[in-house]
Amino acid sequence: MKDITLAHHRPQWKTHIGFLLAAIGSAIGLGNIWRFSYLCYKNGGGAFLLPYLIALIIVGIPLMILEIGLGHKMRGSAPASFASISKKWEWVGWWQTIIVMFGIVLYYSVIISWCLNFFFYSFNLSWGENPAQFFENSFLMKTGSPFEIGQIRTPILFSLAAVWFLHWLIIFGGVRKGLERANKIFMPVLFLLTGVIVFWGLSLPGAKEGISVYLKPDFSRLNDVGVWMDAFSQIFFTLSLGFGIMIAYASYLPKKTEIVRDALIISGMNCLFSIFAGFGVFAVLGYMAVKTGQPVNQVVSESIGLAFVVFPKAIELLPAFSKLFGCLFFGSLVIAGLSSSVSIIEAFASGLVDKFNYNRKTVVSVLCISGFIGGIIFTTQGGINWLDIVDHFLTQYGLVLGAIFECIIVGWIYKANKLTQHINHYSSWAVGRWWKLCIKAITPVVLVAIFISSLIQEFTVAYGGYSHLEIILIGRDWLIYTLFFAILIASCPWKIEPQERILT
Ligand code: PFF
Repeated sequence: MKDITLAHHRPQWKTHIGFLLAAIGSAIGLGNIWRFSYLCYKNGGGAFLLPYLIALIIVGIPLMILEIGLGHKMRGSAPASFASISKKWEWVGWWQTIIVMFGIVLYYSVIISWCLNFFFYSFNLSWGENPAQFFENSFLMKTGSPFEIGQIRTPILFSLAAVWFLHWLIIFGGVRKGLERANKIFMPVLFLLTGVIVFWGLSLPGAKEGISVYLKPDFSRLNDVGVWMDAFSQIFFTLSLGFGIMIAYASYLPKKTEIVRDALIISGMNCLFSIFAGFGVFAVLGYMAVKTGQPVNQVVSESIGLAFVVFPKAIELLPAFSKLFGCLFFGSLVIAGLSSSVSIIEAFASGLVDKFNYNRKTVVSVLCISGFIGGIIFTTQGGINWLDIVDHFLTQYGLVLGAIFECIIVGWIYKANKLTQHINHYSSWAVGRWWKLCIKAITPVVLVAIFISSLIQEFTVAYGGYSHLEIILIGRDWLIYTLFFAILIASCPWKIEPQERILT
């Protein structure tokens, strides 16, 4: 349904469910599978659900409503939306999308390509009996420091090329024929695969022990500020907030949209998925503990260690169909990853198209080629060290700062009241004083607290044991370049004034 009343034509999602699946696809990523359950285990088991829920209510949902409402109102990407508020703040939108396009997505795609490699390795369980040794020494051939770059690992380079080709294939088709169609396939398949993994895991001996370690509540942990920080940072990252993604996705919505209800559905589905996937992860860890005669807490791990070391070991120990299980697990990681990474590229591509009125297909092709080239550094033997440092700086500082600005710009400069009127005009579920309080005060204060606590941590212990020079040249400087680049693009003139798109 095209909206002919608006001066500026903008593509639209074909169906509402298409938008929801794409947004849920962006939110559900690797983090939901390999990080959430570990955080739960580490931070008081079932008791962690309390800070997590509170974080969802006071930071996650309010920001999600803000981003969907803003994109819907301004009918533009993050840079266009901020520029519509004031050209002075346009750089914030660029900074968010550049951090993710020329930072996060570069290494996130490399992790997806490792998953793709491991998907194929599952066919004959190539990692053998010692997956840790296989992953670090045979697969990554990891060097000791980021400055020892070593050589490009060709298996990773080839699968990275495949991943960027898939990105191109999906985004090139546009919002309807590319992103919407892909997510309509990805999401049901991901839910199905995860369902099989969870029920398979639960049927294994030891699953009960694993689940009890995952969820056994320890309320005393809630006195620890670190537990609360973890809950807030996880909610923020898991919902892909502050990335400019939800703003861009919402800009393709039709006039009549249930903004608040959609924000609740996306956030709720994402968190339920995390809790559900955690059952699978811990059931398998429980099985592994029983099999190896160790307590569960000796085998737990998170992120890269969980996916490429612990899980391959557990898969190898499975009584039957272990290769199939490997394919299901790595296949689901690839899908969860792709549906998130494409959303990032779209957020930046839509910014360029909005600003310079470039041909979308050309923009997408150029971005995919540059994304592939930019990711090559992470495919080298020293790549995992780069990945670690860049990830730390961009997510802990860049994204959080961007979101703080986002709250201040919308809440105070544009005025939360104006966006409330817009949201309530189109939505049958209204927002009110509570939402305004979150956006203007609670959410930014929490984000500032996260930022300061990371900063204190930074000066207390050198991150990951890297040298100061490595941290400064790779982490801090990468962040500074993104900011510089954002300010540079923001200073270029607009082809079509951003205000012309606004929905009144
Ligand atoms: N919500 C995603 C996750 O939890 O993995 C965050 C994300 C990361 C989105 C990287 C997109 C992306 F490329």
